[in-house]
Amino acid sequence: QRKAVVVVRAVAINPEIRKSEEKVVDSVVVSELSKPLTAYCRCWRSGTFPLCDGSHVKHNKATGDNVGPLLLKKPKE
Ligand code: FES
Repeated sequence: QRKAVVVVRAVAINPEIRKSEEKVVDSVVVSELSKPLTAYCRCWRSGTFPLCDGSHVKHNKATGDNVGPLLLKKPKE
């Protein structure tokens, strides 16, 4: 029986956006959120996608990339 071999290469996914920054993170204030902070994955490596689980740290180290999550923040009352 033949076995499939999957090779996953670590490659950067951000070739040009804000490369001078160590990590690209953006945040948006959304008053209707139920939680004070929600982080959405933008590296496509999260095990809890679409939510960020911190996997971008390993991806950035392996590839030299600088991706980070999109943070949705509820304003303080
Ligand atoms: Fe993808 Fe954090 S795990 S941005």
